[in-house]
Amino acid sequence: MEIATHAHNPRSDNLDCLVVGVYEQGILSPAATLVDAASDGAIQSFLATGDFAGQCGDTQILYQLPGLATQRVMVLGLGVHGKISDSQFRKAIQGASKALRQAQIAQASFYLLDTPVIRRSPAALGKILVQTVMDSDYQFDHHKEPSEKPQRSLTHLHLNVSGGAEEEAAVKQACAEAQATARAVAWAKDLANEPGNICTPTWLADQAQNMAQRTGIKSTILGPDAMEALGMRLLLGVAQGSRQEPRLIILEYWGGSEEQAPIVFVGKGLTFDAGGISLKPADKMDEMKYDMCGGAAALAAIQSAAELKLPLNIITVVPASENLPDGRATKPGDIHKSMKGLTVEIINTDAEGRLILADALTYVERFEPDVVIDMATLTGACVIALGHQTAAVMGNNEGLVQDLIRAGKESMDRAWELPLYEEYQEQLKSSFADLSNVGGRPAGTITAACFLSRFTENYRWAHLDIAGVAWKSGENKGATGRPVSLLVEYLLHRARQVA
Ligand code: BES
Ligand code: MN
Ligand code: ZN
Repeated sequence: MEIATHAHNPRSDNLDCLVVGVYEQGILSPAATLVDAASDGAIQSFLATGDFAGQCGDTQILYQLPGLATQRVMVLGLGVHGKISDSQFRKAIQGASKALRQAQIAQASFYLLDTPVIRRSPAALGKILVQTVMDSDYQFDHHKEPSEKPQRSLTHLHLNVSGGAEEEAAVKQACAEAQATARAVAWAKDLANEPGNICTPTWLADQAQNMAQRTGIKSTILGPDAMEALGMRLLLGVAQGSRQEPRLIILEYWGGSEEQAPIVFVGKGLTFDAGGISLKPADKMDEMKYDMCGGAAALAAIQSAAELKLPLNIITVVPASENLPDGRATKPGDIHKSMKGLTVEIINTDAEGRLILADALTYVERFEPDVVIDMATLTGACVIALGHQTAAVMGNNEGLVQDLIRAGKESMDRAWELPLYEEYQEQLKSSFADLSNVGGRPAGTITAACFLSRFTENYRWAHLDIAGVAWKSGENKGATGRPVSLLVEYLLHRARQVA
């Protein structure tokens, strides 16, 4: 998709379709006013029919208006003037994207960056617009017959800037960031949507290596022998029930100065979670191919950093494994020793994510990180606590947690903190080992983070539980690419501090 910024008059803009905003109660945006004036009041007379209330996301395409170079003008409802939130703006753009797709329009010119949205600059709106359009345009259809594939049509996206040159420069920069982020989101979705028979630990490692080669990132892939030598018995204990070998994917992007301690991402790369001997019920088990979404996000975030040439040092580590029942699988009650030395009683083999993460979190100590951020589809309890809107964040450093919450707000990829009080650690006591891998039903998301916290004492750390946000079920089943936008926003913020 070609994305460009312009300072056009809508009258002479000759792209396939112009998108202009209309508010409730018949209030026209500046661009809609210009179109209306040029076309003998075509928008006003359309509104006079009473068929269009201007509600957020409503659309109507008007054809061949007089006095304009374009053939089509899409009137887009934006809601109540003066009361538009960023969520509503995004919803409106989703409506416009859908209508553009249905009409199979190839080029669209948006006149929306002057929309007054609470606490959002034109550049911030440009970012939301580009990401939303690219997100809505995503398809995962390469396993389908070509005839069954819906058409993908948008090739040109123009953003009109009404401010000055300074504003246009800011919008341009925002668009570049948005495009790199959107590409990363799409890649994370591609990795995650691939079924478990294709997306195995080995395949995931290959994809990571290909990306690394293309972007100039250093990559190292460890297999079971190297893991054995490192003492990663928790990771190996999860993988031992599978015929697919586990992989530890390590990517290093050194874009910062030599003395700059790296930002480390660790992502859960469980390519299929059947639960192991503590087998999951069959209902929706197919969705456990998405249990590698944390890993996909960690890989995609470092890709964006490399593409944007951020002046940062970043490491991504993804422990990748399957979790299946088998004659050799770990059994409830088995005890494994972690790389860190702590022993763990595996009370429930379905609490496997924390096990593979624990060894990966120990492994990353060697990088002497500035911060470590892990992301994982870790607990069903998180879906109950925060639903599908918000990720959970916990950690051992309040500043880092707040930075992530802020990045989530800014990118509209939101996260909210749950308390990691030490009293919760009680629930992880084991009769026979240093700790148990489950803490019972109460506060399941917190006790999972408590488990991780036992392996992250030597650095600043935060954990994102993305179980509720990483994919959608039902009719629109598919990966969301979250929390890639949050992570890239965090990196951009860190990069601004360096520069
Ligand atoms: N990958 C799952 C968590 C999950 C479940 C995410 C459903 C999204 C939807 C994780 O490995 C798991 O099975 N967790 C268990 C932990 C429990 C056994 C303590 C869970 O949440 O049920
Ligand atoms: Mn599980
Ligand atoms: Zn899992």
